[in-house]
Amino acid sequence: MKQRTIGSVQVGEIGLGCMGMSFAYSGGNDEESLQVLHRALDLGCNFWDTADLYGAGKNELLLALALKERRSDVFLATKFANVYDRTMTSHQDLVEKGVPYIVDGTPEYIRKCVDQSLRRLGVEQIDLYYQHRVDPRTPIEESVGAMAELLKEGKVKYLGLSEAKESSVRRAHAVHPITAVQSEFSLWTRDFEHDVIPACKELGIAFVPYSPLGRGFLTGQIKSIDDLAADDWRRMNPRFTGENFDLNLKIVEIVQAVADRRQVQPSQVALAWVLAQGDHLVPIPGTKKLKYLEENIAASELVLTEEDLSDLAKIQTPFGLRYPEASMSLVAG
Ligand SMILES: NC(=O)c1ccc[n+]([C@@H]2O[C@H](COP(=O)([O-])OP(=O)(O)OC[C@H]3O[C@@H](n4cnc5c(N)ncnc54)[C@H](OP(=O)(O)O)[C@@H]3O)[C@@H](O)[C@H]2O)c1
Repeated sequence: MKQRTIGSVQVGEIGLGCMGMSFAYSGGNDEESLQVLHRALDLGCNFWDTADLYGAGKNELLLALALKERRSDVFLATKFANVYDRTMTSHQDLVEKGVPYIVDGTPEYIRKCVDQSLRRLGVEQIDLYYQHRVDPRTPIEESVGAMAELLKEGKVKYLGLSEAKESSVRRAHAVHPITAVQSEFSLWTRDFEHDVIPACKELGIAFVPYSPLGRGFLTGQIKSIDDLAADDWRRMNPRFTGENFDLNLKIVEIVQAVADRRQVQPSQVALAWVLAQGDHLVPIPGTKKLKYLEENIAASELVLTEEDLSDLAKIQTPFGLRYPEASMSLVAG
C-alpha cells in the first residue's frame, strides 16, 4: 500500500479502525476480527486504532492477541478520557440515561489510564496516545503536560487529540508537539475542512479521519434502519433515524453513481475522496470483515478524476446531527 507519514513513521495510507469489532456496532466475532487484524498486516495496513472506551477494554484485549505475535509490525494508537459508568454496557443505555459519558483529562486520570491500556494491550509502549475528547473542566495545557510526561517515561511515543477544535490544537501544540488529530471526516461530515485540517497541515500534524465511510452509510450496504440490529448504536444516530435516513439516501446515490462509472465500490470512492483532501490525511475505516478490509485497502489504488470530484461536490449537508444531541457538546472541544 502507498505510505503516509505520522510523526517520523511511515504507515499504510489506509489504517484500520477496530472499534466495531467490540463496540457500538452489532455483529462482532472475535475469531473473524483476529483474521482481519492479521490480514491487515499482510497487506500493509499497519496503523491500528483502538481506545480504552471500546467495550470497556475488550477491544484492547482483542488487539493484544494479534500484537503478541506481531508487535513490531503495528503502529498502534489508543485513547483515554471518555469515562462512563461501567454498569452501562451499551450505547443505548448511555443515550437513554441522557449523559453519554464524562470526559476526564486530569493528570491523575491520564496516568492511571496509560498503565491500564499498556497492560491490556500487552505492550511496552503505545505509539500514538490520544486524548479522546477535550475535557471542558481541565485546561488542555494541563492534560497535554501530563501526556508529555508519559513520553519521557517511554510509555508512549507520540501524542494525539481527538475531536479538538483548532484553538485547542494550537494551545496543545504550544505545550508539546501534537503528532495527530483524529476527528470525524467524510463525504457527509466536513466540519473540520476549513479550520482544523489546514491548521494540521501548517503545524506538520497528521489528520486522521474517523468514520470515513459515514459509519457504513456511504457504502450503500445499509439500505434501511432494519439492516441494523436492535443494539446497534447507529439506531441512536440522528442521521440514521426517522425520515433523515431516507433523505440521506440521496447522498449514497451520488457516491454510487461515481462508483458505477469507475467500476469500483462506493466505499472505495468514499475513501479515495478522503485521501484526495490532503497528503496529511490517514483515514481509519472500520471493519470486522475480511472482504471489506480488502476492498478498503484496494481504495488506495483509486485516483478520482476531476469529473468524479465535481460530482461528489454536489453532495449536500446531510439531514441530522452526527451524534445524538447529548453527545454533541463533547465534540469539537
Ligand atoms: N475518535 C473518536 O471519537 C472515534 C469515533 C468513532 C470511530 N472512531 C474510530 O474510527 C474507526 C472507523 O470509524 P467507524 O467504524 O465508526 O465508521 P466507518 O469506518 O465509517 O464505517 C464502519 C462501518 O462500515 C462498514 N464497512 C467497512 N468497510 C466496508 C466496505 N468496504 N463495504 C461495506 N461496508 C463496509 C463496517 O461494517 P462491518 O463492521 O460489518 O465490517 C461498519 O459497519 C473506528 O473503528 C474507531 O477506531 C473514533
